[in-house]
Amino acid sequence: MSRTPQAQALYDRLLPEAIAASKAAWCPHSDFPVGAALLTADDQIIRGCNVENASYGLTNCAERSALFSAIAQGHKPGSFKAILVYAPKVALISPCGACRQVMHELMLAHCPVYCVGHQESASRDWTIEQLLPGAFRF
Ligand code: THU
Repeated sequence: MSRTPQAQALYDRLLPEAIAASKAAWCPHSDFPVGAALLTADDQIIRGCNVENASYGLTNCAERSALFSAIAQGHKPGSFKAILVYAPKVALISPCGACRQVMHELMLAHCPVYCVGHQESASRDWTIEQLLPGAFRF
């Protein structure tokens, strides 16, 4: 994946945070840990991980955990600079539809979403708009 130097610097900063976040995942049902690292306007990094439940539908993905945590801490929708999602048990992670909808509402259209699995050379960079064109909103 070829990136601008600025994009590569963001990626390099967020990846170790997302790896650390994935180690906190609560995923006894899927055994599929995921970590996310979200960069705020004031350059803080907020981590998220998937949190599963025996009632499967209650599971929260890593991306939504990071965003909901950031909003709860007072960071404003539309203020985030980037998010990186990391999943060690797949070659390349792709955010689920629910997370795409939530990211679309809380992050700006041009924001980068870096997706990384265990095969780092297969990583993919998206923007919010690319992940969910024509999103529902009102
Ligand atoms: N999961 C995430 O946390 N993020 C994604 O982008 C895809 C899926 C979680 C949900 C569930 O805990 C596990 O991965 C398997 O689906």
